[in-house]
Amino acid sequence: MSSEKLLNKTRLNKKMTITITTATNKDKQQLIDYLKHYKVKEFIQKRVECYLTHNFTIVAKDDEQIVGMLQWHVKEDPDDGLAEFEEVHVMEDYRGKGTGTKIVKYAVQSVKEHFKKLGFKPRKIFLFAGKDNQPGRALYEKQGFKYAADVGNLFHDDEIELFYVLNID
Ligand SMILES: CC(C)(COP(=O)(O)OP(=O)(O)OC[C@H]1O[C@@H](n2cnc3c(N)ncnc32)[C@H](O)[C@@H]1OP(=O)(O)O)[C@@H](O)C(=O)NCCC(=O)NCCS
Repeated sequence: MSSEKLLNKTRLNKKMTITITTATNKDKQQLIDYLKHYKVKEFIQKRVECYLTHNFTIVAKDDEQIVGMLQWHVKEDPDDGLAEFEEVHVMEDYRGKGTGTKIVKYAVQSVKEHFKKLGFKPRKIFLFAGKDNQPGRALYEKQGFKYAADVGNLFHDDEIELFYVLNID
């Protein structure tokens, strides 16, 4: 068996202990690698830096390895109490085991704490989910996000996006 196959097998057999945390500068290179599907390399780097310094990147880690993520930012004036979730993703081997749920729950808490620190009330979190993305939609709906609108072709011409909103008490 090749060493790569052996490593994969060992990984899959290992009991997974997932930690959810807010990413820091130490995670920068791993995040750049995670987002390598972005075509413009300089853009990934800037995006990662921006979400580490001015916004938020929530990561799921298996030991030190990032296996899932979510980025969020305050939408415009914090006084509006609005935040957006983006880049919600879990690596394939870690899906269907509650990783996405843990990331979303942590991120909602992170929004609440950040607004509190700023002295404003968080009101709503919004995001877009593909109409055909059943795992994504189920994840958000289970966490209380409500379908608000069909926004048509947003990211891709052949895909319909839905607008979801979570009202924060
Ligand atoms: C969407 C995604 C983040 C979910 O992550 P996950 O770790 O599998 O999520 P969880 O295990 O916490 O599952 C949450 C809920 O989603 C639903 N779900 C998970 N996998 C599913 C699947 N393959 N089909 C249908 N529903 C699914 C279940 O209802 C589950 O709740 P339950 O376990 O209480 O029944 C993951 O599938 C992913 O990274 N997909 C690719 C990127 C993506 O689509 N991101 C979202 C963009 S909008």
